[in-house]
Amino acid sequence: DWTMEHFIDEKVEEIRQSVGNQNVLCALSGGVDSSVAAALVHRAIGDQLTCVFVDHGLLRKGEADSVTRTFRDNFHMNFIKVDAEERFLGKLKGVDDPEKKRKIIGNEFIYVFEEEASKLKDISYLVQGTLYTDIVESGTDSAQTIKSHHNVGGLPEKMNFDLIEPLNTLFKDEVRRLGTELGLPDEIVHRQPFPGPGLGIRVLGAITEEKLEIVRESDAVLRDEIAKAGLDRDIWQYFTVLPDIRSVGVMGDARTYDHCIAIRAVTSIDGMTSDWARIPWDVLEKISTRIVNEVAHINRVVYDITSKPPATIEWE
Ligand code: XMP
Repeated sequence: DWTMEHFIDEKVEEIRQSVGNQNVLCALSGGVDSSVAAALVHRAIGDQLTCVFVDHGLLRKGEADSVTRTFRDNFHMNFIKVDAEERFLGKLKGVDDPEKKRKIIGNEFIYVFEEEASKLKDISYLVQGTLYTDIVESGTDSAQTIKSHHNVGGLPEKMNFDLIEPLNTLFKDEVRRLGTELGLPDEIVHRQPFPGPGLGIRVLGAITEEKLEIVRESDAVLRDEIAKAGLDRDIWQYFTVLPDIRSVGVMGDARTYDHCIAIRAVTSIDGMTSDWARIPWDVLEKISTRIVNEVAHINRVVYDITSKPPATIEWE
């Protein structure tokens, strides 16, 4: 019968068999799927695996550090962190169209990853955290093309690697259990979905460092309060969005004319449809007060109460 330990033993054996003494590469995003896939392959072949983590400067507060801590310091993996923030922000300068932003970020990711891969010797395999549901969905789903997602098949095809997809028979909840069994921390195993283009599509319009900082700091406050309220496992996704508008406010005796932050928090089964989360008002109040007090350039906080459809989860 099927147990997690049994699954691990079987996969480890299978991976060792097919890899032999070859080397393997993994594009680690810090998301649940790529992290669990990396941990499993590492269990099987240790130092024959190299993970590349691209920091595109559009990650949430503390995220790059947490991924680095887990994989480099705790798992002692061959772990390459690429600091590509300047490169991405340079390419994105002045670009305000959401789909253009997605394309630039997706393409740049591939270039950076290819460059890193070309520096490594004798890589024959690429690990991907494809789930059973990814295969099923991308085959049939036309709704996926409403926004150009690039989770499946997003990596360069011209690279001559064979794929290792050790999770492709599993569902999400099984992947989480597997991750825990492999010793990954809760912050990774129960991480909420986070889009590849990251905060780049949560700063609406053209991205600047200042605007990124506002989203990053307000998002950190939101996550902190949601966790304190014990709601982090009930809400599918929760984040802040910086609309490209300013409004009038008053602080002390002075009139302000500054940015507004929107909170987006939704419940969902699969992200295809969603409802806005009924966060208790006192929690919302704390979040609002803290954001205005702690994040520079915010004088107003609003809560998005639209379901999907008609709205999407992300604002761009
Ligand atoms: P929407 O906004 O389409 O989001 O309702 C549905 C789910 O997909 C995520 N999302 C993305 N994921 N690249 C990704 O990897 C993207 O470009 C992208 N856009 C949206 C979103 O966070 C939600 O979980």
